[in-house]
Amino acid sequence: MDYKVQIAKLIKIDGASFEEILPLVVVAKDTGLADYAFPCFKFAKTLRKSPLIIANEVVDSIEKPAFVESIEAVNGYVNFKLSKVNYVKEVVEKVKKLGDNYGNSDEGKGKTICIDYSSINIAKPFHMGHLSTTIIGASLYKIYKKLGYNVVGINHLGDWGTQFGKLIVAYKMWGDKEDINQRGINALLEIYVKFHKEAESNPDLNDLARSWFKKIEDNDEEAMTLFMWFKEVTLRDVQKIYERLDVHFDSYNGESFYNDKMQPVLQELEEKGLTKISNGATIVEFDESEGMPPCLIKKADGATLYATRDLAAAFYRKNTYNFYKSLYVVAYQQNLHFKQLFKVIEMMGYDWAKDMVHVPFGMVSIEGEKLSTRDGNVVFLEDVLNTAKAKALQIINEKNPSLEDKDNVAEMVGTGAVIFGALVGSRIKDISFSYDKVLNFEGETGPYVQYTYARCCSLLNKIDCSGEINYNNLTTAESYELIKLIDRYPDIVADSGEKYEPSIVTRYIYSLACQFNKFYLEQNISNSDMADKSARLAVVKIVKDIIKNAMSLLGIKCPTKM
Ligand code: ARG
Repeated sequence: MDYKVQIAKLIKIDGASFEEILPLVVVAKDTGLADYAFPCFKFAKTLRKSPLIIANEVVDSIEKPAFVESIEAVNGYVNFKLSKVNYVKEVVEKVKKLGDNYGNSDEGKGKTICIDYSSINIAKPFHMGHLSTTIIGASLYKIYKKLGYNVVGINHLGDWGTQFGKLIVAYKMWGDKEDINQRGINALLEIYVKFHKEAESNPDLNDLARSWFKKIEDNDEEAMTLFMWFKEVTLRDVQKIYERLDVHFDSYNGESFYNDKMQPVLQELEEKGLTKISNGATIVEFDESEGMPPCLIKKADGATLYATRDLAAAFYRKNTYNFYKSLYVVAYQQNLHFKQLFKVIEMMGYDWAKDMVHVPFGMVSIEGEKLSTRDGNVVFLEDVLNTAKAKALQIINEKNPSLEDKDNVAEMVGTGAVIFGALVGSRIKDISFSYDKVLNFEGETGPYVQYTYARCCSLLNKIDCSGEINYNNLTTAESYELIKLIDRYPDIVADSGEKYEPSIVTRYIYSLACQFNKFYLEQNISNSDMADKSARLAVVKIVKDIIKNAMSLLGIKCPTKM
């Protein structure tokens, strides 16, 4: 039932229509006093009465329906308390009926959202800096699917640039095919680092690298074969990480894909008189009021740039997917780049420029223990996941040494801890990562939620809950608060989609788990007699299902035992 509407229908005020009254009905802040409230202040002037009097008159005029427990005038507000039994029954029945579809919606029906996320650079390490884009993007992907959108996940690979020329030179001088096939990115990285060292004393290597990159540009067969192979090796390796994080893509069209798609865009820019030549380079200048430096489109030597490829990609995505929105989950360091990109498209006269959204996020730093760094201060994401898993295993061995399938559980807990830790704060905030923090079983963490989930599973396994449900057993303070949280899940999913904020879901899951644990303590479920149990266990089952469903939106799996 939509209580706001039902309550608005009860309120009669002279000269005020239902349409005016409805938006004023709010969810009460102090849940002890009321569930919904209606402020009367707005009408004081027209009715020439004090809000207190108006509130009293409203209360007197209402004949209390069954779904309301009490109506009271307090300081110019009309406070409504819902009939708890009625409400609890309604929520439990609704959620039970919907099952795994609870929280789904059709707001996205017929609309496509493109999400550009992870977008790693080929032949470079998959490091901690890519964690946020990868899991925020993957989570938004799942959230929009749940909201009924058609979603296109795009890994805009950084697969173009002079580094490939360097890599070819390095491979020809020191590379071992077998070794690279076996050890993948790590082997590539080693020869790449070696190239940089050697090039310091032998700058000719850089010229050689440039000439090999030129060969890639010219589609030379040998150069292309090597280029494709480096790409393949990198993708094969990162795929393992994507699997662990439950991340998927519908397209791996990266920068090189746009090689032959930039020319028409450049031509259009010129035809529309938007380009200028400055010291031989092609640029687009912005109005002074924008306060932005010009966007560099082509260098003096004719080379295209990151921005040129993104321009071509924007058009390709619009033409291919006809998106309703096109998101870019990229660190805030690239704010200017995206502002320029969107502005150029707007200047070209395309109103869909307004549908392109940069979804920025803060930086990740590592606090506390020193991490294994194989090269300079790069922290490999894979190492972080492995360490988190090892630490999770250690904790499990202390807490529950006889647990079955420990390795699998440790993987879910370790990886889950890393993901949950990275998604729990507003995305724009910088993250200071620490293993102890994310693996704390008592904190605002993945393991805490997973532990709660396992507790639900164990309760449901131990106790038979097939009896008739007596909803009067669910009206105590802790139950009622829990039911209200359960009721909010669909709004939470919608809200996080609207704000591009998986943290809204993450924090909700934590509140749900906390409230469940209060309920669990209050209700003493394992001890209460059978007649009482069914109602409580129905709630346990619902909480368990929502936790699982919501955690899956973050890419986290929950073990049934831990
Ligand atoms: N590869 C880039 C980087 O690692 C991110 C690309 C983001 N996507 C885009 N369409 N520009 O910085």
